[in-house]
Amino acid sequence: MGRLDDKTAVVTGAGRGIGREIALTLAAEGASVVVNDLGGATDGTGGGTIAEEVAQEIRAVGGKAAANTESVATVEGGASLLQTAIDNFGGMDILVNNAGILRDKSIFNMEESDWDAVIAVHLKGHYCCSRPFAKYIRESGRRGTRIINFSSVSGLFGNFGQANYGAAKAGIAGFSRVLAIELAKYGCTVNVISPGALTRMTIPLREARGEDTSDADMASGGPQHIAPVVAWLCTEEAAGISSQIIHCASGLVGIMQQPAIIKSFEKPDNGVWTLDELDSYMPQLIETKQANDAAAKAGGAAVATG
Ligand SMILES: NC(=O)c1ccc[n+]([C@@H]2O[C@H](COP(=O)([O-])OP(=O)(O)OC[C@H]3O[C@@H](n4cnc5c(N)ncnc54)[C@H](O)[C@@H]3O)[C@@H](O)[C@H]2O)c1
Repeated sequence: MGRLDDKTAVVTGAGRGIGREIALTLAAEGASVVVNDLGGATDGTGGGTIAEEVAQEIRAVGGKAAANTESVATVEGGASLLQTAIDNFGGMDILVNNAGILRDKSIFNMEESDWDAVIAVHLKGHYCCSRPFAKYIRESGRRGTRIINFSSVSGLFGNFGQANYGAAKAGIAGFSRVLAIELAKYGCTVNVISPGALTRMTIPLREARGEDTSDADMASGGPQHIAPVVAWLCTEEAAGISSQIIHCASGLVGIMQQPAIIKSFEKPDNGVWTLDELDSYMPQLIETKQANDAAAKAGGAAVATG
């Protein structure tokens, strides 16, 4: 008995990296899996049939899988995912929006095509794949459904050379908060993963810093560390968890802070602030924020005891 028997999952970008591990893990827990992947290069160019290879890998060990090689960046591609799930497995319960590309450049060198390509796969891709699934949930009355979206510290904290990617990944966090509200009454949870894993997306960055990527590094920091967290969020035990950002990497699982007003001052009668008043109040806000950040950092880490 798997924990996801009778569920059908669609995993985008599941031909390699984090998505492949998620597809294998969901299938091992009994889910039927649509393995989507365009099969292109890290910058989004080209294509290939790696989705079918992963689907075959799942079927070879007795699992249920079907391949889909459409792009998540088009409305038609997004709709085809739901259709593949219905055609092969009769429905859909889980959507993992994992597909991604990179076109890292500082803002000085970032051409419109670099901006558009990254926003299209990540931010628009989340829209293209989620909308048909959301409509299907509402129209079919399917319950216990899940959407797991993929953000990044690049968007949540900021990272040099990734204005396109960071904007998309921060946008995905905002998109997910809205979807969590809109789909709550249909019993669909919407959560976000902020992963850290050695994949073809991150290994070159590491090598550029002169660091090796050995088998031991892959064991301690590979994509296999992300998949169980995604799978758990798909289980019945996670039914009450929505609108959260879970950070996971190398044996670490954590929960992110979300935007919140942590201190404010109010002028009587909705008065308008003067610049001189702000000279005094703005530093107090910044001080509160710094103390809040320091407290969150100090109190955040604990070693699991089993
Ligand atoms: N690896 C990390 O440390 C890290 C950190 C933060 C966020 N992420 C995010 O995690 C997700 C997975 O990344 P990864 O590291 O496994 O990268 P990866 O390059 O190994 O895998 C991404 C997969 O998405 C596929 N893909 C790209 N464009 C597509 C499209 N238009 N349609 C369908 N498939 C497409 C690629 O072919 C590839 O197989 C991405 O969203 C990435 O931004 C990864």
